Amino acid sequence: MELMEGLLTRRSVRKYQDKKIPREVIEEIIKAAQYSPTAHNRQPWEFLVVDDKEILAHLRHIQRWTSFAKDAACVIFVLGDIERSFNRTKDNESWSFIDVDCAIATENLLLAAHAKGLGACYCGAAPMQRVVDDLKDYLQLPEHIRPFAIVPLGYPAEEPKQPDDRYNPDKIHWGKY
Ligand SMILES: Cc1cc2nc3c(=O)[nH]c(=O)nc-3n(C[C@H](O)[C@H](O)[C@H](O)COP(=O)(O)O)c2cc1C
Repeated sequence: MELMEGLLTRRSVRKYQDKKIPREVIEEIIKAAQYSPTAHNRQPWEFLVVDDKEILAHLRHIQRWTSFAKDAACVIFVLGDIERSFNRTKDNESWSFIDVDCAIATENLLLAAHAKGLGACYCGAAPMQRVVDDLKDYLQLPEHIRPFAIVPLGYPAEEPKQPDDRYNPDKIHWGKY
C-alpha cells in the first residue's frame, strides 16, 4: 500500500473476524511502531500483546469505550517507560514527552495494521488517571510503566465508511494566524 493512500484510508475498525493473527504479523506491526520518532530518541515505549479472551472482555470495566475489544484477535497495549522518557523535573520545570512519544508510536501501529489488511482502533488510556491506575493494577505493570493506549486488533468484519473530505483549508494559516 502506498503511504499516502494508507494515511488517507485508515479508519477505526471495531468489528473483527474470529481469526488469529500470526505472531510474525504482529511483530511487523510493532516494528513499525518502534520506528517512530521519539523525543531525544529515548524510545520509551513497550508493547504488551494479550489475546486472553477473559482479559479482553474485562477491559470495558476499566475503559468503557472498549466493549468491542472482546471480539478482537488480540489487544496491543502501548506502554510508556516513565524512567526512560525524555523528561524534566527541576528548576521549576516539570514535563515529560512520554505521552507524545507513545501517541506517535500508536499511530504507526494503526497505520501498519491497516497496511497489513488488519483493522484496529485507538482506545485511550492516558491521560485518564483512573484508567491508567486501574490498567496498571489489572495488568500488574511495574511502577515505572504507564499504560498509554489500548489497541484492539483483528481481521476486519466491517468496512467503515470513509469520511467526507476531511481536508479543511480554513484550518491552515499561511504566514500569520
Ligand atoms: C486519543 C484517542 C482516544 C480514542 N479512544 C477511543 C475509544 O476509547 N473507543 C473507541 O471506540 N474509539 C476511540 N478512538 C477512535 C476515534 O473515535 C476515531 O479515531 C475517530 O472517531 C475518527 O475516526 P477514524 O479513526 O475512523 O478516522 C480514540 C481516538 C483517539 C485519537
